[in-house]
Amino acid sequence: MQALRERLLSIFNEALHQKSPEAEVDLILLHLFRQKDRQIRNFSDLRTQNPDPDSILELEAIRIAEKRCTGIPLQHILGIQFFYEHEYKVNDSTLIPRPETEILADAMIQWIRLYKGNLPLRFAELGLGSGILSTEILAEFKSASGFASEVAPAAIALARHNLERIVGADFEKRITILEPNDPRSGFEIFARHGKFDLIFSNPPYVSISDEIEDEVLKHEPHGALFPEVGSDSPDFFYDNFLLHFSILMSPGGSAFFEVPHERAEEILEKFKNAGIYNSKLILDLTGRPRVLQASF
Ligand SMILES: C[S@@+](CC[C@H](N)C(=O)[O-])C[C@H]1O[C@@H](n2cnc3c(N)ncnc32)[C@H](O)[C@@H]1O
Repeated sequence: MQALRERLLSIFNEALHQKSPEAEVDLILLHLFRQKDRQIRNFSDLRTQNPDPDSILELEAIRIAEKRCTGIPLQHILGIQFFYEHEYKVNDSTLIPRPETEILADAMIQWIRLYKGNLPLRFAELGLGSGILSTEILAEFKSASGFASEVAPAAIALARHNLERIVGADFEKRITILEPNDPRSGFEIFARHGKFDLIFSNPPYVSISDEIEDEVLKHEPHGALFPEVGSDSPDFFYDNFLLHFSILMSPGGSAFFEVPHERAEEILEKFKNAGIYNSKLILDLTGRPRVLQASF
């Protein structure tokens, strides 16, 4: 397998835009070996068992690497992405789950364990996307149930697929998906559904003036990146939450948001100015502020 790994690395190294070729090569090999061999389930199996590729698998690996070098995200080619505890189906209908969003998932899961345990928990998520965040909560806490909004119908179809596979065929007993028909709709969509212990979102927050990689701009939907496509209000969803939190949050509840690290302090300031003094930033593994937690 070493020879194939090196061959794939050399294909990637010739394409200058590749940033983490080793990780991507491992993902291609894991994906292909898993289809072929039931013993290979994760990266550790791949390393310890070091399986031999056959010629069909080699050709397929090279075809995938060459396609990847045209700039198509590997996750779109393979149709999968790992996030937190599970593997998710992904496509171009919504954002590819990012490793940094695991900081948000982890912060919420730790908070639920500490403050709610197995007590019933009601949550609301704005911007369901592929479903990663709501799915992780539902899979981890059997007493959790909630609502999630999503404007893109194709993303809803993808999230339903992931929820059904990971949470179970009866997932609709535990989560209600709301489909606003206006991209400027915000947290008010949850208002007629009572109060929530947990509200969370990884909202579109890119500003049109931010530097953004060509690959992202070309292959990921702009509705998942920019709030109100074309407008210059990147804080739209944070501001919108501040208009509605008092009617949505239960006492003792918490809200968690992924935030752009460049504007994290400014957004925290807005929360404090709105009277939510018990707000703080949570850092990612590189030490950058990545998540805002507001407690009520
Ligand atoms: C940054 S993506 C996050 C997706 C997923 N939660 C994640 O963390 O990977 C934001 C999602 O919000 C959706 N969205 C955009 N505007 C929205 C709105 N007004 N209401 C609900 N969802 C919206 C987008 O279609 C996109 O799927």
